[in-house]
Amino acid sequence: MISSKDSYGISFQTPIFAIMSSAIVKKFSGEELFKNVISHAKEYGFIFQSSEIYDGLSAVYDYGQMGVELKKNIRDYWWKSMVQLNENIVGIDTAIFMHPTTWKASGHVDAFNDPLIDNKDSKKRYRADVLIEDHIAKVEVKIQKEVEKAKARFENFDEVMFVSTNPRVVENQKKIDEINARFKTALNDNNLEDVKQLILDLEIVCPISGSRNWTDVRQFNLMFSTQLGSVSDESNTIYLRPETAQGIFVNFLNVQKSGRMKIPFGIAQTGKAFRNEIVARQFIFRMREFEQMEMQFFVKPGTEIEWYEKWKAKRMQWHNSLGFPQSKYRFHDHIKLAHYANAAADIEFEFPFGFKELEGIHSRTDFDLKSHMQYSGKKLQYFDSEDNENYIPYVVETSIGLDRMFLAMMSMALNEEVLEDGSSRVVMNIPPFLAPYKVAVLPLMKKDGLPEKAREIIDELKLDHLCIYEEKDAIGKRYRRMDAIGTPYCITVDHQTLEDNTVTIRDRDTMKQERLAIDQLAQIVNQKVSMSLQLAKLM
Ligand code: GAP
Repeated sequence: MISSKDSYGISFQTPIFAIMSSAIVKKFSGEELFKNVISHAKEYGFIFQSSEIYDGLSAVYDYGQMGVELKKNIRDYWWKSMVQLNENIVGIDTAIFMHPTTWKASGHVDAFNDPLIDNKDSKKRYRADVLIEDHIAKVEVKIQKEVEKAKARFENFDEVMFVSTNPRVVENQKKIDEINARFKTALNDNNLEDVKQLILDLEIVCPISGSRNWTDVRQFNLMFSTQLGSVSDESNTIYLRPETAQGIFVNFLNVQKSGRMKIPFGIAQTGKAFRNEIVARQFIFRMREFEQMEMQFFVKPGTEIEWYEKWKAKRMQWHNSLGFPQSKYRFHDHIKLAHYANAAADIEFEFPFGFKELEGIHSRTDFDLKSHMQYSGKKLQYFDSEDNENYIPYVVETSIGLDRMFLAMMSMALNEEVLEDGSSRVVMNIPPFLAPYKVAVLPLMKKDGLPEKAREIIDELKLDHLCIYEEKDAIGKRYRRMDAIGTPYCITVDHQTLEDNTVTIRDRDTMKQERLAIDQLAQIVNQKVSMSLQLAKLM
């Protein structure tokens, strides 16, 4: 294992599950990858469209028997890395419904809006900011192509020099900077007319109709509301929470006092959030009902930027620990800060449709606690006994969408390999400690006592690991099916097993098989799929 340390002393490890076989790996990419992920997710029981028999519900999805396990394992890995590895972070689980004033105080009633624009010809609705960001992304691609072309042409290519001197690159970079500057000013001034003008000036067309026949831009609130109790009037309106964070803020004092927590400390929570997303066409990337994994870290005012940088590094370390190429992740600092933040960045992942936000790290100042103090009239302060002073803590938040993480995982893990004999296999290279089934136990034949022996092995392993038993079809076909659902180890029971109590264990990634004694199995499997060993790498 190669390990290096960053400036915070956090170590970065190289992948734990490299593909070792001599097979040629065909990496899907772009649209092909995205289509394959969606169809694979359905075919193998990871994700189904919600209410599919009624033609589905837009931007709402169900997790199937495989998906629920993978999702749970990702959630566990996040939870353990946050709560179990950090003495000063505790977890809670708050209700989805909250007092409606919560959302007034948090700013969601007044400011949780998306700027929307409609194309009059196609009647399709778009987020104005997304149209502009997509336009910028296209110019970025042009720059990247110039760089790649030059790289291929010149030896000893100096990219920094090229980017700062090549006229076409300089021109395109200037365009991007100008768009960003205009866009930032328009958003900061909440000037929706200027946002529309920018769309017109950039000659952005509707992807469906190809026309520039746009309506005005207007704001649309993303919260779902419903009625509490039987009387339907405005005073009974409550909201489905659009983020889990507010459940943490309103419980800050409860947790601090009951847990005798000392600043700096964090509160973590995972749970459902709901947003009436308008542009919701990217499978589980943007859903109307989704799950968040959030942590609010309460710090002394003035130390928040230091903690913000630490959490940025720690969260990137968590992503890198999954073993996928580091080039798939990047930071994106926010141009326009949300009303509550004094610093914010996204960890972006290269999804099949490009680099997009996977996680946000926000320095939220004392905005939320102060606002809840004002609206509730309750004192949400901390007495610092070391400095003998009272203050409202500042907060650094880490917030990741579990479903987005799931999509990132599936798009990285799904591969097709062309094997030496010319055949091919589809394999999900999910890190073993996160795989839905850890072990498949397969009797070579459905007779001669092999099934009974296989069941004995399952009985030994199933207290610690989710195992699957399969006896149908030829063994090769069963291996392929296990590859396709990402099962890292297949244990095969054959006639030799009955003679000497040994089995073969096949590694999903290398396809190599080893023979070993059954009484060694539990220990070896424990080591290979251990989440604890993985967590140790984060320490
Ligand atoms: N408490 C801060 C907050 O909610 P956010 O950037 O709006 O910040 C945090 O959301 C994360 O939640 C995002 O980085 C993303 O992973 C996930 N997320 C947000 N909206 C989502 C949606 N409609 N569908 C799936 N995931 C979403």
